[in-house]
Formats: sequence, structure tokens, C-alpha cells
Amino acid sequence: MKRFDGRPAVDDVTFDVPAGSVLGLLGPNGAGKTTTFLCLSGLLRPDGGTIAFGERTLGPERGRTISLIPETPECFPMLTVWEHLLFVARSVDLPNGWQQRGAALLERFGLGEVRDVLGRSLSKGMRQKTLIAATVLAGAPVLLFDEPMIGLDPRAQRELRELIRTLAGEGRAVLLSTHQIETAEALCDRVSIMKAGRTIAGGAPGDLRGAAGERSLEEAFLEITA
Ligand SMILES: Nc1ncnc2c1ncn2[C@@H]1O[C@H](COP(=O)(O)OP(=O)(O)OP(=O)(O)O)[C@@H](O)[C@H]1O
Ligand SMILES: [Mg+2]
Repeated sequence: MKRFDGRPAVDDVTFDVPAGSVLGLLGPNGAGKTTTFLCLSGLLRPDGGTIAFGERTLGPERGRTISLIPETPECFPMLTVWEHLLFVARSVDLPNGWQQRGAALLERFGLGEVRDVLGRSLSKGMRQKTLIAATVLAGAPVLLFDEPMIGLDPRAQRELRELIRTLAGEGRAVLLSTHQIETAEALCDRVSIMKAGRTIAGGAPGDLRGAAGERSLEEAFLEITA
């Protein structure tokens, strides 16, 4: 539960994301998806509720367990792309060998050529990819992507979809918010639908389409959130 000026923005939101799976958080503008992510990652203090990892209830230090790639990517203006990775590696004390994984992540997103470019000189999509690479490198077991496809070119979107499936394959739990129903359908094992701060539906994309698959996920979303 999170209130702003006394008004609840997130109230009665419940979901779980098993390790090795991807959960899509869907909901109209203002439903509370970003607020939920900020609370989960420890950037906002919730006014109530429980955030747990396995059997363990997480406190304010949960950023080490749950990492957020925010909607608007802010890089450090005076650090190069590579220095963002270095910064993360030092902050979370990554063992040697991270350099290869870091370089591979940059290559994956076509950032190899800009590895020595300062944050302030990067395009929006490049900043976003830099943050994705740095956050993934940090290795938290739970990753939150807030609207991750917005602003990425088609190739980067495809790379990110594959990366997200790889991360789940490694046993991480991934939560992403999206307005792109096709993304949710292609990528997510389960989706959770929010409206006005509440969880109002959830299940495998196939289940939401109806037992006989009589409606598209988009139609289901529009009906459920009407
Ligand atoms: N810092 C804030 N101060 C006051 N109200 C806020 C603040 N942040 C969010 N809200 C309110 O909380 C509600 C949920 O907002 P939130 O950004 O979480 O929605 P969202 O589901 O991420 O929407 P979108 O799809 O547009 O990104 C909205 O009513 C919004 O106006
Ligand atoms: Mg949002």
C-alpha cells in the first residue's frame, strides 16, 4: 500500500513471481505499476504490506535483492558506458571475470562502439541499454523492468526479449510492466492486471484469453479493465 497526499495509489496489490519465470504487470495509465516497482525496489517507502523473497521478509535494504530498471533511464553524465559497468561491479563487489560478461552485454546491445562515450553524450535508447547492461551485470535475483521496450529500436527490443528469457532461464525472477499486449503474450509466463491500485486479474496469458481461446489477450485486457 502506498499513499500520496493521503490518496492511495497502490492498495491491495498481490502477486508472486517464482524464480525462473517472467510476470507481466499490465494496467491502464495511472494504475500504479511504477509506484509498485518503486516500492518493491526500495526507492519508495510503502505505507503497508509485505515484500518477501522466498521465506524472508525484505526491509529497506532490498535493493540488493530487487533491482529496478526505471521507465526514464538516467545515466551518470560524467561516466562512460564502460564506467557504468565498473561502478556497478565495484559497488556490489563482483568477483573478477565480470569484465567478459559486461563486454558481452554491451555487444549484445550494440554498445561496443560507444563503450568510452560519456553518459551525457548518449541517445535515450543508448542510456537505457547502458542501464539494462549495468543492472543485469549486478546480478540481483529479482529484476524489475518498467516499460522496458519503449524507446528501443526493433533489434534492441528483440535482444531484450531474448535477454529476459535468458535471465529467467538462469533462475532469476523477472517482473515487467508493459502496455504492449504482444510483448506480454510473447514473453510472460503469467500476467497480473492492475487497475486503480488493485490487482484485478491474473493468470497465464492463455487462461485470460478464455478456456476456448475465444478472445484475444487484448480483448481480455480491455474487458477486464473496463
Ligand atoms: N510522486 C507522486 N506524487 C503524487 N501522486 C503520484 C506520484 N506518483 C504517482 N502518483 C499517482 O499514483 C497513481 C499511480 O501512478 P503510477 O505512476 O504508479 O501509474 P502507472 O501504472 O505506472 O501508469 P503509466 O502506465 O502511465 O506509467 C496515479 O494516480 C498517479 O497520479
Ligand atoms: Mg508507469
